[in-house]
Amino acid sequence: MDTNHHHHHLLLLLLFLLFPLNFVSQSHAHDQYHSIGKEKVTTLHFFYQETLKGDHPSAIVVAGPKDNTVNNSSNPSPPFGTVVVIDDPLTEGPDPNSKVVGRAQGLAVSAGQQQLLFLFAMDFGFTSGEFNGSSLSVLSRNTVLETESELAVVGGRGKFRMARGFSKLRTLYNNQTSGVIIVEHNVTVFHYEV
Ligand SMILES: *[C@@H]1O[C@H](CO)[C@@H](O)[C@H](O)[C@H]1NC(C)=O
Ligand SMILES: *[C@@H]1O[C@H](CO)[C@@H](O)[C@H](O)[C@H]1NC(C)=O
Ligand SMILES: *[C@@H]1O[C@H](CO)[C@@H](O)[C@H](O)[C@H]1NC(C)=O
Ligand SMILES: *[C@@H]1O[C@H](CO)[C@@H](O)[C@H](O)[C@H]1NC(C)=O
Ligand SMILES: *[C@@H]1O[C@H](CO)[C@@H](O)[C@H](O)[C@H]1NC(C)=O
Repeated sequence: MDTNHHHHHLLLLLLFLLFPLNFVSQSHAHDQYHSIGKEKVTTLHFFYQETLKGDHPSAIVVAGPKDNTVNNSSNPSPPFGTVVVIDDPLTEGPDPNSKVVGRAQGLAVSAGQQQLLFLFAMDFGFTSGEFNGSSLSVLSRNTVLETESELAVVGGRGKFRMARGFSKLRTLYNNQTSGVIIVEHNVTVFHYEV
């Protein structure tokens, strides 16, 4: 009996010891969460430079459907099912020779049966300025033939950790002969001070 009581006291003591400890470690995790910093809004303006043809294309078709499954003049071109891998420079100005501020790397999948549209999965990695070493993650559908469109930004790395927002696009130049495409981007993202 006596020893049992003793054990109960020990158990209570243990519970009291454990709960405050647990509480302390939780609030510590809470502090780490707050160290992410205040939420802020950043806007970015740059130009996406794509070259589909020539000796050094920045976007290449790596896979596509068998010809006979898409041999229909009313099908979009490149056909539904085409997979393109992209490593495009992002420049400060519309001129392809202007300063490179980052790269858009990833892929685009032709994902429309009736209409030409792509699903883009890309990393916009910045290589200069305040966001050098940081990146934005883009995962979005895009109707590339419309002059103005929007891409969703779903995350990021570095200073753009947990970023979310969008990019407003405008196709400034699209030359089917040379395969050169220039797209203006205005990105707006919510992210945290690091
Ligand atoms: C498919 O289209 C190509 C040109 O786009 C044509 O040369 C070929 O004959 C077509 N094939 C069929 C089975 O219609
Ligand atoms: C081509 O596509 C259209 C629209 O998807 C369809 O109505 C038509 O039957 C197709 N033609 C052939 C030859 O498959
Ligand atoms: C960007 O960061 C890399 C790696 O830290 C560094 O080597 C490079 O000089 C930086 N570039 C600019 C333009 O600041
Ligand atoms: C991007 O922003 C610039 C400067 O505010 C503006 O001149 C341009 O029209 C905008 N472009 C797009 C595609 O939103
Ligand atoms: C498109 O590219 C071709 C080949 O480089 C060039 O001859 C033509 O002038 C370009 N068109 C425009 C509108 O820039």
